[in-house]
Amino acid sequence: MAGKVAFITGGGSGICKGIARTLMAHGAKAVITSRNQEKLDAAAKELSEATGGECLGVACDVREPGTVEKALDAALERFGQLDIVVNGAAGNFLCPAAQLSYNAFRTVIEIDTIGTYNVSRAAFDKALKKNGGVIVNISATLHYGATPLQTHPSAAKAAVDSMTRSLAAEWGPLGIRVVGIAPGPIDDTEGMSRLMPEGMRDKILAAIPLKRMGTIEEIGDLALFLCSDAARLITGETVVADGGAWLGNGAFQL
Ligand code: HXC
Ligand code: NAP
Repeated sequence: MAGKVAFITGGGSGICKGIARTLMAHGAKAVITSRNQEKLDAAAKELSEATGGECLGVACDVREPGTVEKALDAALERFGQLDIVVNGAAGNFLCPAAQLSYNAFRTVIEIDTIGTYNVSRAAFDKALKKNGGVIVNISATLHYGATPLQTHPSAAKAAVDSMTRSLAAEWGPLGIRVVGIAPGPIDDTEGMSRLMPEGMRDKILAAIPLKRMGTIEEIGDLALFLCSDAARLITGETVVADGGAWLGNGAFQL
């Protein structure tokens, strides 16, 4: 990763802060983004202190292409190049489809799916089409089967997986690989605290073949592999990292 620059949406917290940490520990410089500049400043300081690497926090809303372009400009101004994009910004909450407002459904699609397109497209225009690179889309396994109370993120992530394949096909000739990571339940994350109903932990663990949740560090390691030359033949693929959670039970069961 030495000499590489990574632009990581959702990088101020949880899984994507972990990805930033791992890439930085291996020599990359990181730009982390979310909507909250204060949170990003604190995370950038923490990541730099932990890894000795450089990290810039820039606020943007992935739903707004103008703010995404400004954040990419700030990244290019600071580091002069861009090699890796991680699309991790997402929104989620448990809600039956019949109780979702129209705006609630749209909001999750806008953050997860349209946000992934906005950032990928702007990064392509501003940097990747010139020098190639890697785009990593953070997905899920919710949509492999059917997950109750998760109609909105399931639809959003299914579209993200489709985009991973389409962009891989269109941009491969320019030296751009587009890959995905589909984590299962990952411990100590906002996602799990929102999605795991009270008292369900043991039931969830019992349904996972490896009998444990994943860790943030494990998703960081997978991202490191996918961004590295060790994965140079892999594009268009979304790699599941879930301890086998979705295999025996359809989708991750809430
Ligand atoms: C029903 C809800 C709701 C809830 C919000 N809404 N929370 N509806 N149940 N719990 C509705 C609101 O009423 C509103 O509709 C619409 O959604 C938009 O809400 P806002 O608060 O105005 O949106 P916004 O400020 O843009 O915030 C987006 C958000 C929020 C998704 C609602 O929770 C957020 O910022 N989340 C980011 C962090 C996050 O979710 N992290 C977890 C990612 S985990 P109306 O009609 O009233 O206007 C993940 C895991 C996937 O993705 C797989 C796991 C296995
Ligand atoms: P998280 O910490 O809440 O990460 C989501 C991030 O997205 C936050 O940093 C949030 O920051 C940012 N964000 C939300 N809306 C945004 C917007 N409009 N513009 C820019 N940034 C925005 O949750 P997590 O659990 O680590 O999830 C990270 C990724 O992993 C997500 O893609 C999620 O779907 C995926 N995933 C998680 C799990 C799990 O077990 N946790 C399982 C499968 C998949 P702000 O709110 O400050 O903007």
